Amino acid sequence: MQDPLFTNKLAFAVLSSILLIVGLPQLTNALFGGGHHGHGELHLAYPIEFESDAPAEEAPSEPQVSFAQLLADASPNAGERRAGLCKSCHSFEKGGGNGTGPNLWNVVGRAVAGVDGFGYSSALKSAGGEWTYERLDAYLADSQGYVPGTAMVQRIGKETQRAEIISYLRSLADDPAPLPEVESAAGEPEARHAAVEE
Ligand code: HEC
Repeated sequence: MQDPLFTNKLAFAVLSSILLIVGLPQLTNALFGGGHHGHGELHLAYPIEFESDAPAEEAPSEPQVSFAQLLADASPNAGERRAGLCKSCHSFEKGGGNGTGPNLWNVVGRAVAGVDGFGYSSALKSAGGEWTYERLDAYLADSQGYVPGTAMVQRIGKETQRAEIISYLRSLADDPAPLPEVESAAGEPEARHAAVEE
């Protein structure tokens, strides 16, 4: 004959396992503090998205900041910290030696592949010209894309981070090169606005 209490036992077993799984964390919280007051606080396993009319913080419609502006705003100190990731290959001091990569003192305005005695790739040697801010930016953003065949592999995706590093590289000189001129980005609309008001 079937155990008359079978259904009850089963229900109890199921309930206790649920209680164990769901309730244990709450219980331990309640017993050991855990910062909360046990139950009463709802922990959501998924974030709730609120529809908002307010513009998102980084709305895509945000006006494009020019490279010159980014560079003007960039902190060389932040750049120095970021340049930590270059140090395994490059030295930054005046007269510093070459490592896996060439010394980077005074690199802004220096001839590309211009350090005597460093064994540059033929790709970089044939690039020619000098390191302008823009070329440094392109090289750091995607070295292999910009100079196919170069021996350095760097892909720094964030333009603000590149600007910081470049502003640090700029500071590595007795007489740092002038920053590129910032054209007032809002120049045109502002001028039009002023004209309307007159
Ligand atoms: C794993 C080693 C390595 C790391 C890390 C590295 N580089 Fe390089 N870098 C090189 C090598 C090698 C070259 C020479 C490339 C060639 O000959 O094609 C080079 C070349 C360069 C040049 C061109 C210098 C010249 O004299 O023409 C610049 C500028 C540069 N690196 C900047 C950086 C910066 C900034 C970082 C950090 C964000 C960095 N590199 C990280 C290895 C590295």
